[in-house]
Amino acid sequence: MPPYRRVGDIPRKRHTLHRHDGPVAFEALIGSDGFSGASSLLYHRRSPSALVRIEERSSRPVCWYPNQPLQPRHLRTRALPSSAEGHDPVTGRQPLLGNDDVEIAWVAADASSPLYRDATGDELVYLQSGDAVLESVFGRLDVKTGDYVVIPKATTHRWALAAPVEMFVISARGHVAVPMRYLNDQGQLVEGAPFSERDQRGPEPEPLLVDGDDVPVVVRTRSGLSVHVHATHPFDVIGWDGYLYPWAMSIHDFEPIVGRIHQPPPVHQTFGGPGFVVCSFVPRLYDFDPDAVKVPYHHSNVDSDEVLMYSAGNFMSREGAGIGPGSITLHPPGFVHGPQPGSRERSADATRTEEVAVMLDAFAPLALSAQALDVNDPSYPFSWSR
Ligand SMILES: [Fe+2]
Repeated sequence: MPPYRRVGDIPRKRHTLHRHDGPVAFEALIGSDGFSGASSLLYHRRSPSALVRIEERSSRPVCWYPNQPLQPRHLRTRALPSSAEGHDPVTGRQPLLGNDDVEIAWVAADASSPLYRDATGDELVYLQSGDAVLESVFGRLDVKTGDYVVIPKATTHRWALAAPVEMFVISARGHVAVPMRYLNDQGQLVEGAPFSERDQRGPEPEPLLVDGDDVPVVVRTRSGLSVHVHATHPFDVIGWDGYLYPWAMSIHDFEPIVGRIHQPPPVHQTFGGPGFVVCSFVPRLYDFDPDAVKVPYHHSNVDSDEVLMYSAGNFMSREGAGIGPGSITLHPPGFVHGPQPGSRERSADATRTEEVAVMLDAFAPLALSAQALDVNDPSYPFSWSR
């Protein structure tokens, strides 16, 4: 949960009449876990419930294929057809991997998105390249390459683009949060956590205050997409306060933990959600014992499907497998994976790594979409034998 934030004009007491340039504002709570979890109170100029139409929005249902026969995968995202022009960060998404808990998509976009809210769960978006603005009922949030953006469930927002972007999109069934072990009993990030509240960026202090009539908003559920046409623009919020809002953090503000010998991936954990965790691998000094093996040992995580998105830098342990920025690998239980041949020796004299990568461990098997199978490298399972 990010820290308490207050934006714009709000009344001194909650649930009291609030006039701002005339009519009484419409107070609306957006909250998790009934009325017990993180929440914010927003003050709209017009009723956020006023709809004039509800429409279906056709979307191709995703066909999911089990990872059968079982094998490690290398998905070459930059070969996806989404690299064509005219895609936006919401409707242009290419679903790649999914289970009942989480869906992973890739999008290369060059157009701004429609207004959108995901009624299924929080979205965690990693900006692989480019800059963008996330506009929402909470205001404006500028994001750049290497930023994670947490967008709470049911937040009405849109992505405004001035130039092309690539995004790695994680759609959760529930809420995305920082690991509980990083928090004290008061909810503050503890000393020793790999990031602090200063690294968490919230929306700008000025509300957007957009006017408009008959405004369509695309709403996502696990059943598909709908369109709610609002009588007035949802971005008419004059003020809000609370603990629930979109926030961003650069992967480069994650402070790596380094040891004399190799540290396991939990030291890189950044987020967690129902049925998955997310870790950040960032530039850091290598293990400093003279005999330390600096690339990861072979391992088989018997309880998780391990997904790695290679963002930038050199990938010492993967050299020889054709891995580059934008590559996504899937290593399932039942397959022992490890450094590619020769990488252990090549790393012997290295003192640091410049790798930037995002890892997601899913605790239930991930299925693959047709798009994922289209860009799967069939030679990858045998790359350790070369
Ligand atoms: Fe691994």
